[in-house]
Amino acid sequence: MYRNFIFASCLALAGMLAGCQKAATPAETSNTDSVSQKNAVVETIMERRSIRKYKPQAIEKEKLDEIIRCGIYAPNGMGRESWEVRFVTRPELLARIDTLYADYMEKTQGKRPAAAAYGAPAVAFIAYDTTYDLSQVDCGLLGGNMLLAAKSMGIGSCCLGGICRFLNAPEGAEIMKELDFPETYKLLYAIAFGYPDESPKAKERTPEKVRLIQ
Ligand SMILES: Cc1cc2nc3c(=O)[nH]c(=O)nc-3n(C[C@H](O)[C@H](O)[C@H](O)COP(=O)(O)O)c2cc1C
Repeated sequence: MYRNFIFASCLALAGMLAGCQKAATPAETSNTDSVSQKNAVVETIMERRSIRKYKPQAIEKEKLDEIIRCGIYAPNGMGRESWEVRFVTRPELLARIDTLYADYMEKTQGKRPAAAAYGAPAVAFIAYDTTYDLSQVDCGLLGGNMLLAAKSMGIGSCCLGGICRFLNAPEGAEIMKELDFPETYKLLYAIAFGYPDESPKAKERTPEKVRLIQ
């Protein structure tokens, strides 16, 4: 029994040493540190970037389903799930949004963008419940989960606020009718999804904006 204990202790010590050695190894990727090194979730968070150039390749149905599932399992106030999402992959509808958005931008800004959602093959339109004061938080958390789930599968994404200004304007009414949100819901933002065709660097953050009070 004593021999078993010695053997188990040696194994545990070897394991600890191996663990220490791993922790001391420099991070393999640019945005991870020693804490995140073996943590896939932290690594996914730190490596996600907004993608503004996509391959035309469609996202597989099962991956889209998984992204949606991760979205709706986000925390949500009072369990109300106060979001409505329309996940558009229909090329004809995305092309029509591009054209109407370009018309709108030309009229209001004097320039015509090539695409409303950077040519992404899938766009999620996320609307919040105007009758619930914390609904925008729910929608943000849902989207955050979707971005990270997508990233973990090699799929890029970009939140889009600008496109919603157009869709909420009279010029967007035709598309909004098709998205068919309930009457009390208002479009908050969209998220473009697709396989990335670029690898942008992380933008600097401002850690001083968060104070640790201890
Ligand atoms: C609410 C919101 C709206 C955004 N709207 C746009 C947009 O209209 N167009 C765009 O290219 N990026 C948009 N972004 C992406 C931000 O520009 C991007 O997240 C930020 O610059 C940080 O870069 P990162 O996502 O690569 O870390 C938006 C992000 C958020 C959260």
